[in-house]
Amino acid sequence: MMRVLLGITGGIAAYKATGIIRGFTEAGHSVKVIPTANALRFIGSTTLEALSHNTVDSDLYTDVESVKHVALGQEADLVVVAPASAAFLARYAAGLADDLLLNALLVTTTPVLVVPAMHTEMWQNAATVANVATLRARGITILDPDSGRLTGTDTGPGRLPEPEAIVAIGLALASQSTQGEFSATSATALAGKHFVVTAGGTQEAIDPVRYIGNHSSGKQGVAIAHAATAAGARVTLIGANLQVSTSGIAQVVSVNTAAELEREVNAILASADVLVMAAAVADYRVENPLQEKIKRSSAGEHLELKLVANPDILANAVERVNSENLGSTIVGFAAETAGSMERLATLATVKLAAKGCQMIVANDVSLGRVFGSDRNTVYLLSANGNSAHAQGSKQEVAIAVVSFIAGQMSAAADILDR
Ligand code: CTP
Repeated sequence: MMRVLLGITGGIAAYKATGIIRGFTEAGHSVKVIPTANALRFIGSTTLEALSHNTVDSDLYTDVESVKHVALGQEADLVVVAPASAAFLARYAAGLADDLLLNALLVTTTPVLVVPAMHTEMWQNAATVANVATLRARGITILDPDSGRLTGTDTGPGRLPEPEAIVAIGLALASQSTQGEFSATSATALAGKHFVVTAGGTQEAIDPVRYIGNHSSGKQGVAIAHAATAAGARVTLIGANLQVSTSGIAQVVSVNTAAELEREVNAILASADVLVMAAAVADYRVENPLQEKIKRSSAGEHLELKLVANPDILANAVERVNSENLGSTIVGFAAETAGSMERLATLATVKLAAKGCQMIVANDVSLGRVFGSDRNTVYLLSANGNSAHAQGSKQEVAIAVVSFIAGQMSAAADILDR
C-alpha cells in the first residue's frame, strides 16, 4: 500500500479529482487530499473526505503543533497535483510556499506528477510554457493536457486527462522509484527522449464495409505509452483501431492499415530515440480491394480473395536505423502460441535474431489469454543476452517493459562512455 498525496487546485476539472481518488483507493492505496482554497470553490471537502476516507486539510495554520506540512511531504510515496492550474504552475516553478500544498511539495523528495488543465491560450502562454519547462528540468513529471472540448464552446489542448490515465501514470511513476533493479541511471535514461509506440491492430479492406483484422485492443501498447510518460519520455503513440482510451498520451496519431502505419513509422523514425512495435500488423492485405460492396448473389458459393504480403515494418525500420545510423533503439513484439515459458523463450530468441532489433517482448497468445484481456505474461530478451519475465496486469507488464528498455539503454550508454 502506498501513501498518495493528492493536491487539487482551482479549476473546473477539480470535480474529476473524485475519479482519481477512487482509482488510487480501489488499487489499494491510501489517499490524503490537499485542496487549495480555490479548489474548494469547485468541490466540497465533504465529498473529498468521504471518498478518500481521510480528513481533508487545506489550511496551513491549523494543527500547527503537528508540523503537518513537513509530515505530509515526508510521508508520501507519491504526490499528484490534478488539476494543476496555470497559477499553481507559476507558484510551484517560483518555489513559493504560501499554502499547505506548496509547503508539502517543497518538503517532499518523492516522485511528483503534475497534471495541468486550463484553457488552450493559458497552456500555450509563454509564461506557462517556461514554468512547465522549469519544473520538468527539476525532474517533475508533467503531463500534456488532452485535446478536446473545453469549458466554453472552444476546443483544443487543455482538458484534464481521464482519471484512469492519471492513476496508471502515477502508479508507474511511483513504482519506478521503488523497483530494486531500476537504478538511478536507468530512471533517467528515458527523460526527455522521444519514445514512439505503435499499438492496436491494422485493418485491411476487402470492400468498403469489410476488412481483415485481428483481436488486438491496443491495451498493452497504451499502457507502455503511459509507463514511458511516467519515465519522463516525450511519447508519441501511433494507434491502429484502438479499443481503449489514449488519454494522458502527449501525441497520438491514428492509422488504419499496415500501409498507413508504415508511412507514419517512416515519418517519425529519424526523430525517435525508441520505437516499440507493439501493434499487431496484418502480414497480408487484399491485393485489389473492391470499390463496391461484394454481393452474395454475385459471389455465389465460393469467394476467393487474393492476398499479398505487407512490408515487415519492424524489419524495415531496423534496416533503416542501421543503414542511416539513426541510433534509435528498436523493440519488437512477438505474439506466439508457445504453451510454456521455455518454448516462449526459444521462440523469442529466434524472432529477435530474425528481426534484428535490440529487444523483443514475447507474449504467449495461446488460448486467447492476451488479446483484450487485462493481464499478460511476457518474456523480455535483449540482443546482448539479458532477459526478464514479467507477469501481471498490462499496466504492471508495461512498467517492467519500460524499465527493461531503460535499463538496456543506460547500460549501452555506459559502454559508450567508457
Ligand atoms: N510486424 C511488423 N510488420 C509486419 C508484421 C509484424 O512490423 N508486417 C511487427 C510487429 O509489430 C511485432 C513484430 O513484427 O513487433 C512481430 O510480429 P509477429 O506477428 O510476432 O511476427 P511475424 O513477423 O508476423 O512472424 P510470424 O507470424 O511468422 O511469427
